[in-house]
Amino acid sequence: MPEISIPATILVIDDDAEIRYSLSRVLSTHGYRVTEAASGEQGMALVKKGPPPDLVFLDVRMGGMGGIEALQLIRSAQARQLVILMTAFGTAQTAIEAMKYGAFDYVMKPFDPPKVLSLVASALKTRADLHAVSDYKPSINTEDYKEGIVGSSPVMQEVFKVIGQVTASDVTVMITGESGTGKELVARSIWKHSHRTCKPFVAVNCAAIPDNLIESELFGHERGSFTGATGQRLGKFELCDGGTIFLDEIGDMALATQTKILRVLQTGEIQRVGGTETIRVDVRVIAATNKDLEAMVRAKTFREDLYYRLNVVRIKMPPLRERGDDIPQIVDFCLQNLVKQKKARVSKVSPEALAALVAHRWQGNVRELENVIYRSAVIAQGDAILVKDLPAEIRVATGTEASVASVSRGNSTLDSTLTTIAESAALANAKVVAESVASGAPALSVERALDFLHASLCIGDEPILPRIEREMIARVLAAENGDVAKAAKVLGLTKAVLHKRVKDL
Ligand SMILES: Nc1ncnc2c1ncn2[C@@H]1O[C@H](COP(=O)(O)OP(=O)(O)OP(=O)(O)O)[C@@H](O)[C@H]1O
Ligand SMILES: [Mg+2]
Repeated sequence: MPEISIPATILVIDDDAEIRYSLSRVLSTHGYRVTEAASGEQGMALVKKGPPPDLVFLDVRMGGMGGIEALQLIRSAQARQLVILMTAFGTAQTAIEAMKYGAFDYVMKPFDPPKVLSLVASALKTRADLHAVSDYKPSINTEDYKEGIVGSSPVMQEVFKVIGQVTASDVTVMITGESGTGKELVARSIWKHSHRTCKPFVAVNCAAIPDNLIESELFGHERGSFTGATGQRLGKFELCDGGTIFLDEIGDMALATQTKILRVLQTGEIQRVGGTETIRVDVRVIAATNKDLEAMVRAKTFREDLYYRLNVVRIKMPPLRERGDDIPQIVDFCLQNLVKQKKARVSKVSPEALAALVAHRWQGNVRELENVIYRSAVIAQGDAILVKDLPAEIRVATGTEASVASVSRGNSTLDSTLTTIAESAALANAKVVAESVASGAPALSVERALDFLHASLCIGDEPILPRIEREMIARVLAAENGDVAKAAKVLGLTKAVLHKRVKDL
């Protein structure tokens, strides 16, 4: 029984009187106060009239308003209202739809009373956690929001000062820092605050363009200058005249191209590939890299003279682990953005979840934090992100790993297993899946399991495969208590390959 002093109220919506009766009996004999509704319409009226029930059981197939429609209506009116869908017809599609429209869970009829009771307890616990978040205060102010770069930590304040200092001139700026620390964001901010803001900002990712094409990309080419050059083409420097060019990943630029960049910086002149005309361009250059350029200069893979030309002012972006104070603000900022873009409706974070986010070591810095917030906000079942919505590795980091209630639910049907998988995929908790499979559930069809993974993971803009790979490796390692040899065996890799994958990912 949950620890509550007033009995929790549960509304059962089903057009089948027998089901209503049997479910109500189980629930009321365990101390819950149950109200019944014989149709979607009647149920909606009761929810609207209030006070809202603590939990709703809702049948999927009913005459009149169907369960999925009612679920959407309930959830759009009240994001905190938790709903468990019930059905006698378990299909992948219904389970996916149920979770997509924000059901807390999905159960099969006929009911298994212990399972229903444990589900109710877990839903009421989530409800209590959500209500405990009511005094959440966003830590970001609207000015930061407009600027798009968040951070009040001392290291970020220094970054902002330098941005301010370099905006008035055309000085070349070199931005260094780990991946995802905001190098491009800072470059854009310099441009936005400079007198060049009404002219273009052009970003060129030097690592993404093959060596044989980069010169044409930067400086353009004349017709017939190489096979495939069927017409004249203007390069980024010309297109960006009067504006700011951002040479991202400059450490990946070939030596020959480096020479040409040096020439533009020294003379303000370019020549198109295959051309003889000298063209004057007025472009401010901002460069970025996460490589150790000094070491590259020593190894003679980066031109020393170019290094000094670019490195007139250096902005070193601090990794997120040196900016712990900024995490709550960045979380707020991400949530506000998601709500604004209508990608999620969650605007709060529980204090425990925030503590876990602050304690985590973010290898991928702000980009990784952003992705975690996006994914957690999408799967959160109320209006706040709770610890259980965070990826397992972040929960583990603080010892807040709450064994998800579904482990104890005792799955006895394929569909409940699949629902658990959908949920677990979303919650990134492979352990739950493993336990539910081991608890005697029927064999899974790989196709159906993949359906669920697909539905759960095709949110966000991170490609699916690297994400599955990264998360699968993390999970297997955690399940094997960090034993690389055992984890490699489970994954079907050699130890060396696993080491390398872990490093790469
Ligand atoms: N201080 C910040 N406040 C808000 N969002 C930020 C901040 N820093 C970075 N971001 C966000 O994090 C993501 C990564 O930032 P950005 O692309 O500028 O990083 P980067 O250093 O260029 O990364 P990479 O080295 O991988 O190219 C972006 O979505 C950006 O909006
Ligand atoms: Mg970048």
